[in-house]
Amino acid sequence: VRPKVTVNCAMTADGKLATIERKQLRISSPEDLDRVKALRASSDAIMVGVGTVLADDPRLIVKGAPRQEQPLRVVVDSRGRTPWTARVVNDEAPTVIATSNECQDVWPNVDVMRCGQGRVDLEDLLGRLHGMGVRRLMVEGGGELIFSLFQRGLVDRYMVFVGPLVAGGRTAPTPADGEGFAPDDVRMLKLADSEVLGNGVLLTFDVD
Ligand SMILES: NC(=O)c1ccc[n+]([C@@H]2O[C@H](COP(=O)([O-])OP(=O)(O)OC[C@H]3O[C@@H](n4cnc5c(N)ncnc54)[C@H](OP(=O)(O)O)[C@@H]3O)[C@@H](O)[C@H]2O)c1
Repeated sequence: VRPKVTVNCAMTADGKLATIERKQLRISSPEDLDRVKALRASSDAIMVGVGTVLADDPRLIVKGAPRQEQPLRVVVDSRGRTPWTARVVNDEAPTVIATSNECQDVWPNVDVMRCGQGRVDLEDLLGRLHGMGVRRLMVEGGGELIFSLFQRGLVDRYMVFVGPLVAGGRTAPTPADGEGFAPDDVRMLKLADSEVLGNGVLLTFDVD
């Protein structure tokens, strides 16, 4: 058993999550930001990879909501690269950092979950989050983590906002990076909805 997993991200019209320097871009329209806020508020936990923590230093909170209503923040971080100064470990909301079994790092005010050899075992992590009462999990990136989740069949819904920018760059991050799938192994989605949100479009896909 695991939580229902909704992946949410924003990409440029040419399919990038950020610039070639992996610098954060403002891709979402104000209307999309409102939707993301509501999706966060309706989630029990919000997950990102450590690459996103290092690149963007996100707070992953629902702005304006009291601490006891904040979703749990979860960082997937095998080797303990999350800085003590990262905003995701501040006291605005509870935080779990998932590491490998080998990692010994600790952080103040953080629940550490040791999950798997080498790299974080995502099935194990999701099962343990379910055991803590997490039923709706929102994943906010980045491309390495999202690819791994698709690879392991752990995505139920994929929502991507497409904004009116072109970032370019053959190594700029995309919604699903990783090693990529072989032609026979590409993942099939079902378009569930499309919606204009200000200057861009939100696409919602369900995963079979
Ligand atoms: N536009 C958007 O919506 C959006 C959203 C989020 C991020 N971004 C952008 O995306 C970029 C960061 O994405 P990223 O792909 O570099 O990093 P990421 O997906 O956030 O994090 C990847 C890291 O997570 C760790 N990890 C641990 N277990 C893993 C597993 N089982 N599978 C995959 N990763 C695992 C790995 O580091 P260890 O091996 O050290 O554990 C891996 O390098 C930044 O440029 C950011 O601006 C954009």
